[in-house]
Amino acid sequence: MKILAVGQGGREHSLLWKLAQSPRKPLLYAAPGNAGMAQIATCISIGATDIADLVEFAVNEKIDLTLVGPEVPLTLGIVDEFEARGLRIFGARRDAARIEGSKIFAKNLMRKYGIPTAEYEIFDDARQARDYLEKMGAPIVVKADGLAAGKGAIVCQTLEEAHQAISTIMEERVFGDAGDRVVIEECLTGEEASFLAFTDGKTVLPMASSQDHKPIFDNDQGPNTGGMGAYSPAPVVTEAIDREIMERVMIPAVRGMAAEGHPYKGVLYAGLMIKDGKPKTLEFNGRFGDPEAQPLVARMASDLIPVLEAVIDDRLHEVTLEWRPEPAVCVVMASGGYPGNYEKGKAISGLDEAAGVPGVVIFHAGTTLRNGKVVTDGGRVLNVTGLGKDIPEAIANAYEGVKKIYWEGVHYRNDIGKKALDRLTG
Ligand code: AMP
Ligand code: GLY
Repeated sequence: MKILAVGQGGREHSLLWKLAQSPRKPLLYAAPGNAGMAQIATCISIGATDIADLVEFAVNEKIDLTLVGPEVPLTLGIVDEFEARGLRIFGARRDAARIEGSKIFAKNLMRKYGIPTAEYEIFDDARQARDYLEKMGAPIVVKADGLAAGKGAIVCQTLEEAHQAISTIMEERVFGDAGDRVVIEECLTGEEASFLAFTDGKTVLPMASSQDHKPIFDNDQGPNTGGMGAYSPAPVVTEAIDREIMERVMIPAVRGMAAEGHPYKGVLYAGLMIKDGKPKTLEFNGRFGDPEAQPLVARMASDLIPVLEAVIDDRLHEVTLEWRPEPAVCVVMASGGYPGNYEKGKAISGLDEAAGVPGVVIFHAGTTLRNGKVVTDGGRVLNVTGLGKDIPEAIANAYEGVKKIYWEGVHYRNDIGKKALDRLTG
């Protein structure tokens, strides 16, 4: 069996790592991949959004199954294009991927199907948006409608910041067309968690809970990033909250998408704010989270291939998922300067020593090979993932791995998993 993974991040490396362990022994390909993926897969130099080239490759190589990591190819319709050529592919179709590609689409779905979320209004006119800001006051959240590489949601503590957000998105058009319209919404407080599920459009098969760490610095300080670390399970998601998320968020979203005529298949990811035991939905993503996938995949005991196939074939009700009881903690190691400007091409040392730490697995993100050596090639570079008998041991293992790795300018947070620890120790 030949499987192609589309993408080049830690998420895609973790998924390939999992597929490589399947008893079905698939032959693995990655497009474009990275230095870590190159150890277990054949990397093809086709970009994740070069859909026509990817289709051509899959046809010529007789790829049996394609798995898409990032959101952009999904919103561009990679799944529709593959299916039109009779190729099997795991991911949301273009219409369904709008649940992530348009915040307005997602908010209207939530309103229509009673999914708990922040109160909001939609604007395509900057003046009216500004009038609304004056009426509502701060804190308030301004979001570009379209995809903005995770930077389109601006949480504003003052009205001045909110007006600046309108300028940035609607007038300076920093995110291009993605800022033609904005959502302005109530600012929620609480603790964030991520909830991912497989779905074939009817059955919703939840994964274990997880939590991301978005800001660049310890104690959630500094600008937001793609995610600086994650762990699973997230103690903030108690059994009761887990049930509530399934009943009030995930199942209504999947039913709603089907009722709207865009059945949703693939991984549905809800970003949630939890306060006083009640979850509210911040956003939906149409894919695995990065870095949430890394600890989730590290804990997944079941073979992944039958799950992907059951989603594609609309028989997910036949599948169950087993999880290892050990928690997993993933620490992201990033280039100095990220999420702003950073240099590439720094030689990375200590990878083999870190991989030798018991309970540790290293997923590559922005890495590449230069003269046979692994060098940095992106903002988020490595995802050191530790499993342990409990959260403290998983944290200790992950950081023992992290401490063995070095490159010039390396940056990572020192407090990944702390929120889980605080909750467990009260
Ligand atoms: P989004 O892309 O919509 O998930 O937003 C990115 C981040 O902005 C979230 O992970 C939250 O940290 C924050 N955020 C988004 N919406 C809100 C909100 N209504 N209230 C408070 N924080 C929010
Ligand atoms: N970790 C956040 C995301 O994948 O969108």
